[in-house]
Amino acid sequence: MERLTLTRPDDWHLHLRDGDILASVLPDTVRRFRRAIVMPNLKPPVTSVDAAAAYRDRILAALPDEADFEPLMTLYLTEETTPGMIDAARQSGFVHAVKLYPAGATTHSASGVTDIRRCYPVFEAMQQAGLPLLIHGEVTDPDVDIFDREAVFIERHLEPLVRDFPELRIVLEHVTTEAAVSFVESAPNNVGATITPQHLLYNRNALFAGGMRPHHFCLPILKRERHREALVRAATSGHPRFFLGTDSAPHPRHAKESACGCAGIYSAHAAIELYAEAFAAAGALDRLEGFASHHGADFYGMPRNTGTITLERAEWTVPEAVLFGHDPGVPLRAGETVAWRVAE
Ligand code: DOR
Ligand code: ZN
Repeated sequence: MERLTLTRPDDWHLHLRDGDILASVLPDTVRRFRRAIVMPNLKPPVTSVDAAAAYRDRILAALPDEADFEPLMTLYLTEETTPGMIDAARQSGFVHAVKLYPAGATTHSASGVTDIRRCYPVFEAMQQAGLPLLIHGEVTDPDVDIFDREAVFIERHLEPLVRDFPELRIVLEHVTTEAAVSFVESAPNNVGATITPQHLLYNRNALFAGGMRPHHFCLPILKRERHREALVRAATSGHPRFFLGTDSAPHPRHAKESACGCAGIYSAHAAIELYAEAFAAAGALDRLEGFASHHGADFYGMPRNTGTITLERAEWTVPEAVLFGHDPGVPLRAGETVAWRVAE
């Protein structure tokens, strides 16, 4: 059987939620990843170091016994965030980044930023503290077509930001377009990007295959095939500023299968396996380790992990549903097969 051993990977973009849901999703991530950048879009959002400390404690308390896992906490940027809070974050030792959601861009983003320029003093402090800025890069202007929101964000907001803060480390999260790939490739070394499994494996036809497919709805939304191909090229290129970030985002089935369904795809149950599929399809399995286990740590300036994980090429069927707390949820590939599995 074909086997592949990698340095233990990290997930540089993950939604763990809280309470019962946190406890039920955490084992999936912990089984595969040594660390994860934990998104702060709880209700209410994690806007202070104290809130991040308390959330981190809840995550640690919910870990399975003997888990070797480190949650890397983030702060949710608002227009009330101050440079002093950035210093406190840096000094905490457990807050590793600050997340910018344009207000209204996605799930639980209502407290996000309406005018990026108001955050300039905070970016200045982050630049000095060496704290990375993680960006949900989509404009929220309802006049902009949903498929163009990332490209327009890059032009309107990201290009000026990168110019104005030449030393600020910026991660353009979950990139979905050719425009984002070329932007990151030609940007200076302080700009990187994460890529999700769904954007490597699916194009927007997956949203409408034989009918509406709410479980393929996430934000940024899936794009055309040529964009998917550009993402696969970027991920498998060996370029050190593209790295793994699942954006795994649990929502109960009833919230997805609804007249106004939530954005978010749950992939933690098969995350590294799905990336292996995408890399195998591109004939680039030898590049998976860099993308999954090296590039992110290098970009964040953290040590690479020392343990390993072994994958085997062996098909298994994803359950039709999993439990998020008390509610069933539908994981990516539910009822279908995945070509790789994690060896025991
Ligand atoms: O699809 C998404 N779901 N995109 C995001 O940016 C947020 C996430 C969530 O929290 O559910
Ligand atoms: Zn996310």
